[in-house]
Amino acid sequence: CLPKIMFLMKPSVFIFLFTCVFQLSHPWSVNNFLMTGPKAYLIYSSSVAAGAQSGIEECKYQFAWDRWNCPERALQLSSHGGLRSANRETAFVHAISSAGVMYTLTRNCSLGDFDSCGCDDSRNGQLGGQGWLWGGCSDNVGFGEAISKQFVDALETGQDARAAMNLHNNEAGRKAVRGTMKRACKCHGVSGSCTTQTCWLQLPEFREVGAHLKEKYHAALKVDLLQGAGNSAAGRGAIADTFRAISTRELVHLEDSPDYCLENKTLGLLGTEGRECLRRGRALGRWERRSCRRLCGDCGLAVEERRAETVTSCNCKFHWCCAVRCEQCRRRVTKFFCSRAERPRGSAAPGLGLKP
Ligand SMILES: *[C@@H]1O[C@H](CO)[C@@H](O)[C@H](O)[C@H]1NC(C)=O
Ligand SMILES: *[C@@H]1O[C@H](CO)[C@@H](O)[C@H](O)[C@H]1NC(C)=O
Repeated sequence: CLPKIMFLMKPSVFIFLFTCVFQLSHPWSVNNFLMTGPKAYLIYSSSVAAGAQSGIEECKYQFAWDRWNCPERALQLSSHGGLRSANRETAFVHAISSAGVMYTLTRNCSLGDFDSCGCDDSRNGQLGGQGWLWGGCSDNVGFGEAISKQFVDALETGQDARAAMNLHNNEAGRKAVRGTMKRACKCHGVSGSCTTQTCWLQLPEFREVGAHLKEKYHAALKVDLLQGAGNSAAGRGAIADTFRAISTRELVHLEDSPDYCLENKTLGLLGTEGRECLRRGRALGRWERRSCRRLCGDCGLAVEERRAETVTSCNCKFHWCCAVRCEQCRRRVTKFFCSRAERPRGSAAPGLGLKP
């Protein structure tokens, strides 16, 4: 049982510890939850935890067929874990976590889970565009944004480039939630003639926020700040200026990513050996179809085919009255895994190892 994500706020305000556990047989779960402090924060903390978890689940979904697949080790958001990476993947983890927290708080608010908050009707009655007025119940993203900022951004206590990077990416995550909101409208007029419409903004599926941030991940900008800019006032000014010049819609990183093909115990990376990849069957997207090449081939590994049989109920028939009888169908499934190419000992590849 290891603490993974720790939100540690200023003790004078409140303390909020969020620990989770990775169990081998299950996806990781939030399992332990401790907090003390003023009531206001207690009200939101379970939502914040649920939001952080949904961010992590989305990370695992979006990176399921990537060399880096959002491993547990990457999920330490706080600086208390010692080594802090500052690469493209770190940027994504921060963005998706803060987006998840904002998203869940906003959704909770719309569902009436909090007494203190409800729909955003601040623009209701105003003209929104041609032929439509603001009306109805817009999701209150302003609320979600503000509370998410208080919880997630408070993790960054430093003033160095890494802290600035994390704050920037937290903000990019929140921008992604706002930027993917959808307008929904209702028609008014004689028998639904739609002479006027009232419209409101609603959250998309969180999957869409994840997909949006995955695109931002591929386009992440690298800034060169680790050398030089020290902890002096001038250095901090340079850091602030650099980040101010970059749109908060974009993800930013400071370091290059390590080679995720390879196992690296220091960095807690497993490498791609043994990973499953997808080849045929099902309706695969382009990214999935190329997963064997990306995970195995390009990493110098072979693709190993493993056949297995699954038994399922099938050809079920309804018998009067009232039973359902099924047959047991065996189905062959083929799965693909990356494995170290094996060459029988002593047999060198042609053209190699020939001694004169
Ligand atoms: C907010 O929503 C999440 C997930 O939908 C749920 O787990 C949590 O209990 C909700 N919070 C409150 C205060 O109802
Ligand atoms: C692991 O990563 C670190 C940092 O990038 C690097 O210095 C080290 O050489 C790597 N170790 C292995 C075994 O690749």
